[in-house]
Amino acid sequence: MTLPSRVQLIDVGPRDGLQNEKQPVPAAVKIELVHRLQAAGLSEIEVTSFVSPKWVPQMADNAEVMNGIQRQSGVRYSVLTPNLQGFEAALKTRPDEIVVFGAASEAFSRKNINCSIAESIERFAPVVQAALAAGIAVRGAMSCTVGCPYEGEVDPQAVADVAATLYQMGCYEVSLGDTIGVGTPGRTRQMLDVVARKVPVEKLAGHYHDTYGQAVANIYASLEAGVAVFDAAVAGLGGCPYAAGASGNVATEDVVYLMNGLGIHTGIDLDALVDTAGWISERLGRPPASKVARAVLAKRAKPV
Ligand code: HMG
Ligand code: MG
Repeated sequence: MTLPSRVQLIDVGPRDGLQNEKQPVPAAVKIELVHRLQAAGLSEIEVTSFVSPKWVPQMADNAEVMNGIQRQSGVRYSVLTPNLQGFEAALKTRPDEIVVFGAASEAFSRKNINCSIAESIERFAPVVQAALAAGIAVRGAMSCTVGCPYEGEVDPQAVADVAATLYQMGCYEVSLGDTIGVGTPGRTRQMLDVVARKVPVEKLAGHYHDTYGQAVANIYASLEAGVAVFDAAVAGLGGCPYAAGASGNVATEDVVYLMNGLGIHTGIDLDALVDTAGWISERLGRPPASKVARAVLAKRAKPV
């Protein structure tokens, strides 16, 4: 077993991290967050989502945020699009990549995007076709790949089936979400091994929420399985409005610290990322959820 020598991290903080914030976060703060993340070395940033503002009010400023960012060459900017209406609105803001997002559990699919898994696939097909025709890359994201807040344990075979459908439809990569962070390394590995029989492992990414504190361990297990792309959110921001109690994504700085320790290249400056974690946490009025950010900030405040 050899671990990869480099890993791609996608910061989903501006989207997944902020979508569930109850207090309105000004577009200017979201824009500055993107700027700080790219300055810290992130090469892909999930900026916002083009979903219904009635369902997710925090993302209602999607176009303002996308149009407000100063793009840096070499950085990819992606946005979530659940349907053609979202895609058409997103297209005007020139994303490099769109993300169609489904689920491995029927109940979650209905709660999150108001349709069955089969209906979601039907909706995604024209979105994927339109995006590819416009030269925009398409990523697939899946929720509840380990457990579902409504249905409990999820069968890895069900995950593999939806992942394969998204991949065959034209998604260049499928991000596997442990939406409620219930996975442990053995269970995560089992799911990945089943999915990798249908989708090449180099086309899979991990998206692990840290609700039970297992996300870093699950990332290590995923590295061992051959996965080399992970979603994470600076400061451990995040949650899903349709998964009560789900806490944030794994913190990007926790993942960078892990990778630095393993000698795996990410291209990300840990100090600049910790600055960003401190900055956004101050804007939100709470300390960073990330242990690494807290440790580094405490050490800076009181060096031994
Ligand atoms: P719907 O109500 O079934 O849609 O919602 P509809 O087609 O029947 O349209 C109803 C109304 O919504 C209409 O407006 C449409 O214009 C509007 P009205 O006539 O009532 O004024 N509408 C839209 N508005 C803006 N943008 C759109 C759009 N589509 C319709 N794209 C819909 C279906 C998918 C839109 C809705 O269920 C929705 O927005 N859901 C929110 C989903 C979401 O953002 N969830 C969080 C992100 S996913 C996530 O966090 C998980 C992930 O991180 C992985 C993990 O951790 O598991 C990715
Ligand atoms: Mg998520």
